[in-house]
Amino acid sequence: MVNEDLLAIDYKKDFPLLRELDVAYLDNSATSQRPQCVVDAESEFYLKHNANPLRGLYQLAMEATDGYENARIAVQKFINAKSEEEIIFTRNTSESLNLVAYSYGLSNLQAGDEIVTTIMEHHSNMLPWRMVAAKTGAVVKYIECAQDGSISEAALEEAITSKTKIVAMAQVGNVLGRLNPVEKAIELAHKVGAVAVIDGAQSVPHMPVDVQASDADFLAFSGHKMFGPMGIGVLYGKKKLLKKMPPFLYGGEMINWVSRETQEYAPLPHKFEAGTVNAAGAVGLHAAIDYIQSVGFEVIEAREAALTKIAFEGMQKIEGVHIIGSDKWEEHKGIITFTIEGVHPHDIAAIFDADGVNIRAGNHCAQPLLDHLGTGATARMSLAFYNTVADVERFLASLSTMRERMGYGR
Ligand code: ALA
Repeated sequence: MVNEDLLAIDYKKDFPLLRELDVAYLDNSATSQRPQCVVDAESEFYLKHNANPLRGLYQLAMEATDGYENARIAVQKFINAKSEEEIIFTRNTSESLNLVAYSYGLSNLQAGDEIVTTIMEHHSNMLPWRMVAAKTGAVVKYIECAQDGSISEAALEEAITSKTKIVAMAQVGNVLGRLNPVEKAIELAHKVGAVAVIDGAQSVPHMPVDVQASDADFLAFSGHKMFGPMGIGVLYGKKKLLKKMPPFLYGGEMINWVSRETQEYAPLPHKFEAGTVNAAGAVGLHAAIDYIQSVGFEVIEAREAALTKIAFEGMQKIEGVHIIGSDKWEEHKGIITFTIEGVHPHDIAAIFDADGVNIRAGNHCAQPLLDHLGTGATARMSLAFYNTVADVERFLASLSTMRERMGYGR
């Protein structure tokens, strides 16, 4: 299908909020919208199958358990994990990364070990590692990116050494939208016996991700950025690693048995899912996966690329607008962060809002990156496949008036 035909398909019809609200929603990296089928799946769970999963021996509880465990199998297949035991449900990407840090990090690292990460990480893939370093005496090393957001193989090779125990990296950065060389990082990590932790929050909703092909040891992502519910996230981990890791949270349903003095923990994946789980969220995530697959990543990637190109080229023509990161639209996976000379990003967001355009402004939970690039706060537009050319045109029309509305000449 050529781009014009692809862009003509109306996917907003599936998204009640986008159908009813007259806005150009361009804050998809913060959270996506949800299609009707996801909202229906979640509410159907509560209306027809609600009971506490994994515990009850009655019909309703077994239905709840089936919904929850079928969602796990859907996630397993979606990222091509070998086994459903490798899929742990969490609240979100942050919790998934904290699980690895608290459980794997604290029990495997010691003074002198190194954790290699990048300066462009979201705080969620930075602060847990600092916690591990502070508690174990390990050191966090940052790989710097160039002004265009690139991370060179030479920088990876220099940073990852025999002292490295963990390599933690986002597949796509949430500010620069650049696809990082995670395959190379994983290969280098494995050469020195380290584990590779991949933050997939900004990649999993937008491109096919295959954990067996990449050989990642851990992959974290969130349901709410991939058209699923808030409050459900995923940690993928290789079985051989998860098996040896201690639980992260302790309590109900993560045990086989408990006596006064001792206990035996449940097998994978339940060892890591203490307390009542978010079964409705998991069922909603299952519906989101089915929905993504019905659209297809070919369509998702092609539409997002076409819209990125239109936005990027339009922005380049507007005086006073500075795009952060690469000057090639192909190197922005649906995310374009920018500044406008003389206009504070919070004013940018407020003016956009007045024009019915939703974007994010501030530090995007990646302050060390913005310090490194010397930009301070910025504005960010981020696309999803359901966005349209009209959304991008509305964004560009508003953007082109901004300096004038703030009292500058155009
Ligand atoms: N991590 C989300 C973002 O980048 C919230 O906006």
